Amino acid sequence: MINDNLWYKDAAFYQISVRAFKDSNSDGYGDLQGIKEKLDYLQTLGVDCLWLMPIYPSPLRDDGYDIADYRNIDPMYGTLDDFTSLINSAHARGIRIIMDLVLNHTSDEHPWFKASRSDKNSSFRDYYVWSETDQKYNGTRIIFVDTEKSNWTWDDKTEQYYWHRFYASQPDLNFDNPKVQEEMINIARFWLDLGVDGFRADAVPYLFEREGTNCENLPETHAYLKKLRAFMEANYPGRILLCEANQAPEDVRPYFGDGDEFHMGFHFPIMPRIYMALKKERADDMIEILRRTPPIPENCQWCTFLRNHDELTLEMVTPQERQWMWEQYAPEPRMRINLGIRRRLAPLLDNDQRKVELANSLLFTLPGSPIIYYGDEIGMGDNIELPDRNGVRTPMQWDDSPNGGFTAGAPCTELVKGELSYENINAASQLADKDSLLQSISRMINVRKEHHAFGSGSMEWVESTNPSLAVYKREYNGETLLIINNLTGKPQAAALPLEHQTEYVDLLSNAEVRIKTSLNLEPFAYLWLRQKI
Ligand code: NOJ
Repeated sequence: MINDNLWYKDAAFYQISVRAFKDSNSDGYGDLQGIKEKLDYLQTLGVDCLWLMPIYPSPLRDDGYDIADYRNIDPMYGTLDDFTSLINSAHARGIRIIMDLVLNHTSDEHPWFKASRSDKNSSFRDYYVWSETDQKYNGTRIIFVDTEKSNWTWDDKTEQYYWHRFYASQPDLNFDNPKVQEEMINIARFWLDLGVDGFRADAVPYLFEREGTNCENLPETHAYLKKLRAFMEANYPGRILLCEANQAPEDVRPYFGDGDEFHMGFHFPIMPRIYMALKKERADDMIEILRRTPPIPENCQWCTFLRNHDELTLEMVTPQERQWMWEQYAPEPRMRINLGIRRRLAPLLDNDQRKVELANSLLFTLPGSPIIYYGDEIGMGDNIELPDRNGVRTPMQWDDSPNGGFTAGAPCTELVKGELSYENINAASQLADKDSLLQSISRMINVRKEHHAFGSGSMEWVESTNPSLAVYKREYNGETLLIINNLTGKPQAAALPLEHQTEYVDLLSNAEVRIKTSLNLEPFAYLWLRQKI
């Protein structure tokens, strides 16, 4: 079991906010034991790898992306023993687990920062980036534009500024300090020794700062990340590094190096273009961005997603497109945050199961390994009353018992209210209903697994006479798949080129399909066809 080192190329991933997933001890907070109790569910769903959001001790000013101790687990989530026990149970079912590794910054409550700010002569002073002036690196953009006015914050005690790319409570580590570089590799080692299958490396473009640049994607950053990869390759082959770099495809490409940097990288720009395609009822934007995406080495893979725990980021679109997306998908100002939209998948798509399935069809059949955000497989709602990005981090809706079966205690946060609350949308009722969203998603994941063409195959757009269809061919090792998505809510007909007018098996229904001169499609229909040989 678990020995194919390229496993991530065919895998379906599942992202879990541990705090919001399942509470096993009734304290109102989701925990590791809770995830263990839900492994049956995850196995039925068909996912191959879980990404656990940060579980380290943290003051939670950025939901755990502000780490106060890298070698521990916050007691609310459990213990290190619970962690290894979860990993062992998951592995026994063929499910892997990766976790967040936050390299760029710590919490201001981390002992390194406390020491660093206590005295200019502290041996930890150089663990962070200090300056006499706040005018250094002023070509650097601000990421949290709604809350932060500068990347520098003044420290009264030592009378200097410290550098931070995110909240002021998240000082950036100084990667020019070899000790910092070494500390982070040792932290990675600590978790790899506990059996974790890899890391989703947070915010990697920002590790180094250099005057006269925008302080993103610097050569020094790539050089360090290659060191981290070499360390993993030498000691833990088969464990992966997944890159979080919210950048244009040509800027993410170098993070794969020559197959010697990251195994995987999120494809940020394709995501908003899937939503554009559904609204415009045309595939053009998806086609354009995939054409602009450089090829990646054979041992690398894109990671694609529809939603995650952050805002639906619109950093990778033009200002005009951003405005359009806001108007279309976030008409109320409170639905917006920074340069994005703080809503979940189902509400974005009008809670229309057909549209949610179609979006997932695109996700699962375009190049890359898909990642599902917990709850989106049942069409869970959001709670936009909650501040920051918390509205999309509400408790998983397991059943229609109190608190949606998430906790027997008092939940740590508000749940979703209204039409998409647990009384109406929950995993138990969808498991019992063969026509539910959950069953469709699970079917797509399980079918996808059986065909390497999805994870490793070539990709070619197919010209049809109808621009409202997204049609493409995926091919691998003699197997040809033809994927057809109707991007509209109306029946559509299309003629396909002669070479595609042949016999197929519909992978999702097992029906035989013969494409003749013209093809008719139901509203929002998606067909995954395997060409008969
Ligand atoms: C990216 C994470 O996804 C986000 O939630 C976090 O706020 C920033 N990195 C800072 O760590």
